[in-house]
Amino acid sequence: MSEPVTIYEVGPRDGLQNEAGFVPTADKIALIDRLSETGLTRIEATSFVSPKWVPQMADAAEVMAGIRRAAGIRYAVLTPNLRGFQAALAAGADEAAIFASASEGFSRKNINCSIAESLERFAPVAEAARAAGLPLRGYVSCIVECPYDGPVAPAAVERVTAALLGMGCYEVSLGDTIGRGTPKSVELLLASLSRSIAPSLLAGHFHDTGGLALDNVGVALTYGIRTFDSAIGGLGGCPYAPGAKGNVSTLALARRLAAEGWDTGLDLAALERAEAFMAGHIAAAYRAADSALSLNR
Ligand code: HMG
Ligand code: MG
Repeated sequence: MSEPVTIYEVGPRDGLQNEAGFVPTADKIALIDRLSETGLTRIEATSFVSPKWVPQMADAAEVMAGIRRAAGIRYAVLTPNLRGFQAALAAGADEAAIFASASEGFSRKNINCSIAESLERFAPVAEAARAAGLPLRGYVSCIVECPYDGPVAPAAVERVTAALLGMGCYEVSLGDTIGRGTPKSVELLLASLSRSIAPSLLAGHFHDTGGLALDNVGVALTYGIRTFDSAIGGLGGCPYAPGAKGNVSTLALARRLAAEGWDTGLDLAALERAEAFMAGHIAAAYRAADSALSLNR
């Protein structure tokens, strides 16, 4: 039997958060419902962040209330602070994620504080997650390069990853936020990280700006990583990471893994349907927003 690899769908959150036009809440819900029919077991549905910072996620509670929850799927959300965590809990999230950066520049732009301050802010969130019995995931952004500070040293990634695991995160997702990672730089990072951190505690989160995300997944597989984040239709980016393109596409990743003999448990035809839905309905919302913008110009 082939070895399992988990695909962690982040399209509804990481994918949509970067879109300028507001995607109607009903379309977000319909997208998540379609993703729930594909065999995925983990879907990051939204984020409980400040709507002033990311207006696209302002409907987080409505999205969580509207989705049809399928058995066996954990619906996760991003929480930047205790307030976000409490809102996530009230909305019935199955899992929360805290997100730090390996670079100071991105930390300040993304969450308006230093790395050290962010870790202090996350400590009570981790405590609350433990008390509530909610699985907590961690993210480390800018694992190879930061749009503000340039190249990032593996030691910086290791420090933040270890801090998040020390707080109780069951897994830390390593984010190539601006998609500049190459098989060489990812290899260099993982060779260093793997000396102190077990691959079962790590996930790969590769944006595809440079078109190398699938190759970077390949390198991570050789280091024993078995969980990868991706977004339906390759949606994505980060509003605070200029130049960041979409996450690696879920369908492309699922096809590549299947072709290499890994077992993702995903139904490729159902993924195609979810991608077609996304391309039709949600792209139409973007077009409507774009034409409204051009009419206003
Ligand atoms: P701040 O401005 O320093 O803090 O933001 P604040 O406490 O002054 O809050 C600002 C306003 O937001 C206040 O409202 C708060 O009440 C409100 P006002 O009083 O002015 O009316 N607020 C909230 N509202 C709702 N939910 C909350 C919340 N917290 C405060 N939880 C803060 C600091 C962290 C809140 C802000 O910077 C923020 O929300 N940042 C999130 C940015 C974000 O979501 N970025 C994208 C996700 S990260 C990413 O994409 C990378 C990743 O994919 C991995 C990778 O690719 O590398 C994960
Ligand atoms: Mg991302």
